Amino acid sequence: MSVSTPFVFLLLLFQSGVWGFPVRQTPQESATCGYKSCHATKPGMLNVHLVPHTHDDVGWLKTVDQYFYGDRNDIQHAGVQYILDSVVDQLLKNPDRRFIYVETAFFYRWWKQQTDDMQNTVKQLVNEGRLEFVNGGWCMSDEATTHYSAVIDQMTMGLRFLNDTFGHCGRPRVAWHIDPFGHAREHASMFAQMGYDGFFFGRLDYQDRNRRMVAREQEMLWRASESLTPPMADLFTGILPNGYNPPEGFCWDQSCDDPPIRDDPDLEDYNVDDVVTRFLSIAHAQALVYKTNHIIMTMGSDFQYENANLWYKNLDKLIRYVNQKQSNGSEVNVLYSTPSCYLQELHRANLTWPLKGDDFFPYADSAHDFWTGYFTSRPALKRYERISNGYLQTCNQLEVLGGPISRKGPFGAGDSETLKKAMAVAQHHDAVSGTEKQHVANDYARRLANGWAHCQVLVSNTLSSLSGSSAPRVYCEHLNVSVCPLTETSKKFSVNVYNPLAHPVSWPVRLPVNGTAYSISDANGKAVDSQVVPVSQATAAVRRGRGYAVNELLFQVQAPPLGYSTYSVSLLQNGRPSPQSSPLPRVPTAVQNKFLRVTFDPETGLLSSLSNLETQQTVKLSQNFYWYNASDGNNSESIQMSGAYIFRPNTSTPFIISKTAKTETLQNSVVQEVRQWFSPWVSQVVRLYTDSRALELEWTVGPVPIGDDLGKEVISRLDSSINSSGVFYTDSNGREVLQRRKDYRPTWNLRQSEPIAGNYYPINSRAYIKDDKDQLTVVTDRSQGGGSIQDGSLEIMLHRRLLYDDVRGVGEPLNETSDIYPEGLVVRGRLLLSLSPPATAADTHRPLAQEVVLQPLITFTDGELHPSTRLEFSGLQAVLPPAVHLLTVSQWDQDSVLLRLEHQYQASESKEHSQPVTVNLQKLFSTLDVLGVSEMNLSANQWKDEMTRLDWKAESGEMPLPKRGGDPSVWEVNLKPMEIRTFLLRVRQR
Ligand SMILES: *[C@@H]1O[C@H](CO)[C@@H](O)[C@H](O)[C@H]1NC(C)=O
Ligand SMILES: *[C@@H]1O[C@H](CO)[C@@H](O)[C@H](O)[C@H]1NC(C)=O
Ligand SMILES: [Zn+2]
Repeated sequence: MSVSTPFVFLLLLFQSGVWGFPVRQTPQESATCGYKSCHATKPGMLNVHLVPHTHDDVGWLKTVDQYFYGDRNDIQHAGVQYILDSVVDQLLKNPDRRFIYVETAFFYRWWKQQTDDMQNTVKQLVNEGRLEFVNGGWCMSDEATTHYSAVIDQMTMGLRFLNDTFGHCGRPRVAWHIDPFGHAREHASMFAQMGYDGFFFGRLDYQDRNRRMVAREQEMLWRASESLTPPMADLFTGILPNGYNPPEGFCWDQSCDDPPIRDDPDLEDYNVDDVVTRFLSIAHAQALVYKTNHIIMTMGSDFQYENANLWYKNLDKLIRYVNQKQSNGSEVNVLYSTPSCYLQELHRANLTWPLKGDDFFPYADSAHDFWTGYFTSRPALKRYERISNGYLQTCNQLEVLGGPISRKGPFGAGDSETLKKAMAVAQHHDAVSGTEKQHVANDYARRLANGWAHCQVLVSNTLSSLSGSSAPRVYCEHLNVSVCPLTETSKKFSVNVYNPLAHPVSWPVRLPVNGTAYSISDANGKAVDSQVVPVSQATAAVRRGRGYAVNELLFQVQAPPLGYSTYSVSLLQNGRPSPQSSPLPRVPTAVQNKFLRVTFDPETGLLSSLSNLETQQTVKLSQNFYWYNASDGNNSESIQMSGAYIFRPNTSTPFIISKTAKTETLQNSVVQEVRQWFSPWVSQVVRLYTDSRALELEWTVGPVPIGDDLGKEVISRLDSSINSSGVFYTDSNGREVLQRRKDYRPTWNLRQSEPIAGNYYPINSRAYIKDDKDQLTVVTDRSQGGGSIQDGSLEIMLHRRLLYDDVRGVGEPLNETSDIYPEGLVVRGRLLLSLSPPATAADTHRPLAQEVVLQPLITFTDGELHPSTRLEFSGLQAVLPPAVHLLTVSQWDQDSVLLRLEHQYQASESKEHSQPVTVNLQKLFSTLDVLGVSEMNLSANQWKDEMTRLDWKAESGEMPLPKRGGDPSVWEVNLKPMEIRTFLLRVRQR
C-alpha cells in the first residue's frame, strides 16, 4: 500500500480536528459483486439456493502441495489446480453459474501461475459475483486445538491476499467451516469481529441436530462472548442440511456415481421426470426443518469440480427442468447461489432467531462416536505448532524493531513470511488437529522447521543490530531434553533472553553443561545465583545420544518487555558435580517457596496436598498417571474404535500405571524438584522454582507400549478435595472460559452414551475446577483433551497410541514412531498448577498462560562479548498495564506496522484487572515514532469505520446496545475486557 498522498491529506484532516489519523486510501468504487450480484428469487415460492463448491483440505491424506498439483492420486484422486482451471472455464460458459472458493492457501498457489489475461478474466468473474470467496483464510482452521492468536494470523494472511488482489469484491461476507469437528465459541466471536455477516457449518452433535430440526432451530444467533458488548461478538449461524454434501442422488462429480440428467426423449433412459420429482420431494422435506421459504443445498464435496463440466451441465439442466414445472403450478424455484446470497434472503426475512450462548463441543455423530480424541492426537506436533506460534510472534516483532536490516543484514536474507505461511497451513482442521496421515504430519513439521530457519536469520540480524555485536548467534532447539552443543563445550558464552511480552518476565533457564561450577553475571554485571545438577536419567533416556552433557546449569533470568537481556556465563570448575548437588533417593515431606507448598505421601511418593501460602489455603491433591484401553471395535454396543479423531475407551475405569512412584528429591536455591519414576515409559518432575506462583508438573510419556496389542490413551489425573459439583471450566481457543457440566449440555437434554469420551472437552490453554473457596487451575503447554469425571478431579489426556483406524477417512492407526524413537514416540510437556481463591485466580492464570504461549527466545553467542555490546534493550517506552496483552506487532508494508492490543481479562473475572484500560499509541515504542494510525477490523481487511454488518434479532435476550462511538483521542486507545483492537500504524525508526 502506498500511503504518501493520503497521509498528507489526512494530516490536514487531523489538524482540523477530525477523528483519526488514518493510514489508508479511499476504497475503489464497487462493481456488482457482493449482495448486489445475487440472482433474483421468487417471494411466493420455495427458493432453493444451489451452492456449487469444493472442499479442499490444506493437507490430509496428501500434503498441501500434493493436493495442489494432483500428485499421488494413488492415495486420493485430488488436484486443486485442475479444479480452479476447470471451474473458471465453466463459469465463463454461462453467466448464471456461480462458484465459491474457500482456501486461500490453494487459490494463492494457483493465482501465481496464471497469465495476466487469465488473472484479468478471474478478476472480472469476482467483480461480477460469479466467483465468490467465502471464509477466505489461508485455510479452514480447526476449532478445538487452535490458539486464537494463530487463527487471527492465518485469517489475516488469507484475507489480505484477497483484498490486495481483488479489492473489496474479494472480501468474503460469510464464514464457512463446513468440516471442522465441533465449533468453538471463540471462533464465532473472532468471525464476528472480522466483519462476517454470517457463518455456516456442517457438523454438530447428532442429538443437537435432531432437536434443532424438529424445533426449526438450525439457524440461530450466536452470542459468542460474555464480555464483549453485543452485537460485537454476535454471529448469525446456520447449520447446513447435509453436512456439506449434495442431497442423496444428486452428486454429478466425476467422483460420484449418481445418474446424469438424461433429457433426450428420443434416447433410452429418459429420466427428467424422475429427477425433478426426486428433487422436489427432497426440497419440500428440507423446507420443513428450516424457517424461511429459502433453503440451501451444497452442490459439491471434497476436491470436487476437477472436471466441472459434469457438475455444471447437470445443474443447468436441473434448474431448467425444475423451474419449468412452475408453469404447471410448482412453487419451487431453483437458482445458482452462494452462501452470502442465501444469507441475504434470511436477513430479508426479518425474523427473530434463537440465541446460542455456549459452544458446539463435544461433537458426536452417533451414540458411541465422540470426536474427542483429536483434542490430544499427535501431542508432539501440537506442541511444535504452539511454540512455533510464539516464535513467529518474536520473529514478527524483531522484524519491526530491526527495520530493513532484519531482512537483509550481516547474517544474510531472513524473513518471517516462510514461518507465517507454515503456521497458517498448520491451523488447518487436519493439521494441528492431528487427523492427517503420518507423512502429512511430517510435512507440516518440516514446513515449520523451514520457517524457523528463515526467522533465525532475521532474528540474528536484528539482535546483532540492536546489540551492536555481530558474533554468530547459536540456537538450541532441544533444551527441553538438555541438548545444546555450544553450552556443553564452551568455557565462556553469553545467553540472550528475548521476551516477546509487554511485561517483564522472570524465566528459569536450564542449560546442558559439562562443568560443575559457573559464574553468571547479568546485564549490569551483577552475579546471578546458579546451580549445577546432574542430568536426570529420564532426560538422558529421551535425548538418546544426541548430546552428552552430564549436568544442567540452572539460573533464573529476567527480561524487559519486548526486549532482551544478556547474561554472561563462565566456567569455573570442571569435573563431576559435588555429591550435595545430586538428588537424594527419598520422598520429601514437603517442598515450598514463598508462594506455594506441596506435600507428598511418604508411602507412595505421590503428591498429597497443595497450599497457597499467601492466601493460606490448602487442598488435598494427589496426582497419578493412568491409561484408557482403546476400544478395538469388538464390542456389543458399537463397532467404533478409538482413532485419530475418536476417543472410545472400552471401559470407564482407566488402568493405573503404578500406585507408587520411585522418587528422588533435589533441593537448592534455584529449584526444588521431586523426580518421580512410574514405569519405564512414564516419569515426571514435580518442580517448584524459587519465585514461581505455579507448580510445574513436567511429564514424560512414551514409548507407549503396545506389546499387549492394546491401544492406550494416557492421562494425568489430579484428584482434589475441591467440591466441584460436577462442573469444570475450559478455555475456548486460549481466550474466554466456558463452564462444562458432567453429562449435560446447555441447549438440549443429553442422553449420555459415553461416560468418559462424552465428557471430554478441548483444553487449549487452561482448565479449572473450583468451589466457593478454592480454585485449582491447570495451564497447559499445548492443546489437549480433558474432563472432570469425578467431583474434585481433573484429567488431561497427554498421549495416545492406537492400533486401529477409526473409519473417518484417514485410513491409518494413530501409531507414531520416528527415526529417533522407532519403538514409539516419547513426548514431554508441562502442566502448570496454581491454587487461588476463585475471585483472584485469573490474576495468576492469565499472565501465566501468556508466558507459556509467548515464552522467551533464548539464543547464545560463544566467547567473550565485545565491551561495547548493548546488553539490555526494550522496544517499549514503558511496561503496558497488566491487563493489556500485546497480541500482534508485525511489519505490514514498508512504512506501516500492524498492531493488536488485547485486554486479556474477562468481564468480572478479576477485581483488579477486569476494568477498562487505556494505552497511548504514541508512547508505546521506544525506537519507533508512530506518525499515523487507522483502526481496522480484527482480520485487518477492512477499516473499522467502514465495517457494517447485517444486524440480526434474537428471539430472547436484551437488544444490542448501540455501537461504540469514536474515541475522544486518536492516540489514547481504550480497551474493555476481552476486547482486541487492531491498528495499522505508520511508523518511522527513530
Ligand atoms: C421487520 O419486522 C418488524 C417487526 O418485528 C417491523 O416493525 C419492521 O417494519 C420489519 N422490517 C421490514 C423491512 O419489513
Ligand atoms: C484493500 O486493497 C486495496 C487495494 O486493492 C487497498 O487500497 C486498501 O487499502 C485495502 N484495504 C485494506 C483494509 O487493507
Ligand atoms: Zn476437511
